[in-house]
Amino acid sequence: MKNTLMKIISQPQSHAKWINTLAYLEHIGSRKIMKSLNSRLLNLDMLEHLTEETRHAYFLKKIVEKNFPGYCPNFSPEHLLGNNSPDVYFQSLDKYVNQHLPEGKSHLILNYYYVTLLIEKRALQVYESYQNLLQENGFSFKLTPLILEEQKHLKETENAIAILDSSFAQNLDLFLAFEHELYLQFISDIDHELSLLSAPEATYG
Ligand SMILES: [Fe+2]
Ligand SMILES: [Fe+2]
Repeated sequence: MKNTLMKIISQPQSHAKWINTLAYLEHIGSRKIMKSLNSRLLNLDMLEHLTEETRHAYFLKKIVEKNFPGYCPNFSPEHLLGNNSPDVYFQSLDKYVNQHLPEGKSHLILNYYYVTLLIEKRALQVYESYQNLLQENGFSFKLTPLILEEQKHLKETENAIAILDSSFAQNLDLFLAFEHELYLQFISDIDHELSLLSAPEATYG
């Protein structure tokens, strides 16, 4: 991942697309919480989570606009790294978890918690590596507020699933293995795109 991130931040074009892609992933996350959970089941933590994911998308999009003005006006595929890969990653994960959880009255809630848990784990790993590189390479913006909130989401989610699901450890292993494959595919799509991006004019001025 570090090699991919190093390549990404070496050019403003790919760097802008990367942060835009992270903003888009946050946006998909917040939209998914809103669409997948029955409104009647929402509790305070879920509403807080929804609000914070929406704000993360905004926070990252603001970094794009401030540091790379004009590069990525919206979330259309040409402004993302890996084109449709962020959608494929998120939707495939959600579908897999949904298909592998037993039917029952906790199905919807558990689906939400497991997808959240998997995303939070990956997000923290990626955000922390990326944040370190930003610091090492003298970029002025930081992801600290976002990382702190993701850590809180992860903790809350782990606690909630441990209470709800007696097969927590077993299910988590299965889902983590699948998420890992999806993540590798996502990074491979990004690497492929980066190998095609070699415009010499697109380096930092
Ligand atoms: Fe987030
Ligand atoms: Fe989160």
